[in-house]
Amino acid sequence: MTQPGYDAFADEYAQRFPDPYQAPFERHAVAIFAEQVHQANAPGVVVDVGCGIGHVTADLYRRGLRTLGCDPSPGMLHFAREAHPEQTFVDDDATLTLITEPISAILARFSLIHIDPAGVEAVLHAWAARLPREAPVLIATQSSDEPGSALEFDHAVAPAWRWHPDELHRVLDACGFVENWRLVSRPGGIHRFPSVHLLAHRR
Ligand SMILES: C[S@@+](CC[C@H](N)C(=O)[O-])C[C@H]1O[C@@H](n2cnc3c(N)ncnc32)[C@H](O)[C@@H]1O
Repeated sequence: MTQPGYDAFADEYAQRFPDPYQAPFERHAVAIFAEQVHQANAPGVVVDVGCGIGHVTADLYRRGLRTLGCDPSPGMLHFAREAHPEQTFVDDDATLTLITEPISAILARFSLIHIDPAGVEAVLHAWAARLPREAPVLIATQSSDEPGSALEFDHAVAPAWRWHPDELHRVLDACGFVENWRLVSRPGGIHRFPSVHLLAHRR
């Protein structure tokens, strides 16, 4: 798959979001994830799915993790590679088809939103097949207060869907993951919608 919207937007994205975290809870959610990956102590790389310009991949690396970023937008990866030459970035989407090495954990911040909800279970099944038992997975999405199916919204760059936390829980459970915790924020500041960070582990 390709992401022409993000290719065109990459320059502006890098300028607009020099800090990957728009609020302290986002930084802390990633910090807890990193700590849980250390505790799980599984061999392999932590994959940052839809890593964009790579700034969260680099944060995980600073937190002592062996990381690999992947993204289907060559434009976004160009900035990632320029800013973080010590990191490995792969031109791949959430199916992780091109990543052959063992994977210890997965982070997907605001990237699964760009996959049609009908295709998300296939992605999560692919992750479950690649991860060891207990492996942590942290997913962040724009969220919704309306239970049920994910809702398409007018994202500025690409088609996108926001997820009720219980729906995210449901599909994760169906694909072999157990929820550990979720952090739900209310709209505010630059955020038009609630957001959810949900951490689960491979059953
Ligand atoms: C809002 S940006 C988030 C970037 C990064 N995760 C962060 O937290 O800063 C969304 C990213 O998801 C990527 N993306 C879009 N569709 C994807 C897919 N099917 N699989 C993986 N990543 C995808 C886009 O190219 C873009 O870089």
